[in-house]
Amino acid sequence: MSDDWKRLAAEAALDEVRSGMKIGIGTGSTAEHFVRALGRAVAGGLDVVGVPTSERTAALARELGIRLATLDEIPALDLTIDGADEIDPALRLIKGGGGAHLREKIVAAASATLIVIADHTKLVPVLGKFPLPIEVVPFGLGATRAAIEHVLARHGLPVSLSLRGGADHPFVTDGGHMILDAALGAIPDPAALAADLVAIPGVVEHGLFIGLAGKAYVAGPDGVRVVT
Ligand code: 5RP
Repeated sequence: MSDDWKRLAAEAALDEVRSGMKIGIGTGSTAEHFVRALGRAVAGGLDVVGVPTSERTAALARELGIRLATLDEIPALDLTIDGADEIDPALRLIKGGGGAHLREKIVAAASATLIVIADHTKLVPVLGKFPLPIEVVPFGLGATRAAIEHVLARHGLPVSLSLRGGADHPFVTDGGHMILDAALGAIPDPAALAADLVAIPGVVEHGLFIGLAGKAYVAGPDGVRVVT
């Protein structure tokens, strides 16, 4: 059911896309539904150029005949369409369940707006049940981890970090970094935490997306609704 809702949200968001647009293309299973819908529209004559947020999205888009570019070639985009792991009532997000949040945030920030596509289970009153992905440079991992733990403790949050993939086979992002997932339960002040995390040397980016999303297409048993 959840996958059907993801597909419905993704297909509804295609309404936002017009010929001539430059669009950021997200990563994850919901975004994949969007890429497939976009591929069909492009085959039907829609003329867009896309900037993918991951190697995985780029490969699928290429396969479907979607014209791609980089942010070096097109530094400003009309919109980005991407999934999320959690969405709060202020349209603040947790992203990075698929490990692509660094490129996703760069592409979203280069876009006039970020439009989120999701099934209704992603709507939460307070962010934090989904573990917060924190992307870190492999060099100095122990020191960076200690600094993150210090920040979490200062915010009164649980100090529970796990290296994605484990020590033997750590997950490596498209940027060659690693991810520490922080099980926080609830994040009462996402903006303050975001600022403190990103100030730590060794932290490349975290999965809190604040002030980036302008709208969400959310699908559930009652159909698709637009949340602003
Ligand atoms: C990847 C992401 C995804 O958008 C997020 O994890 C949602 O994924 P899905 O659509 O598969 O539920 O942030 O980094």
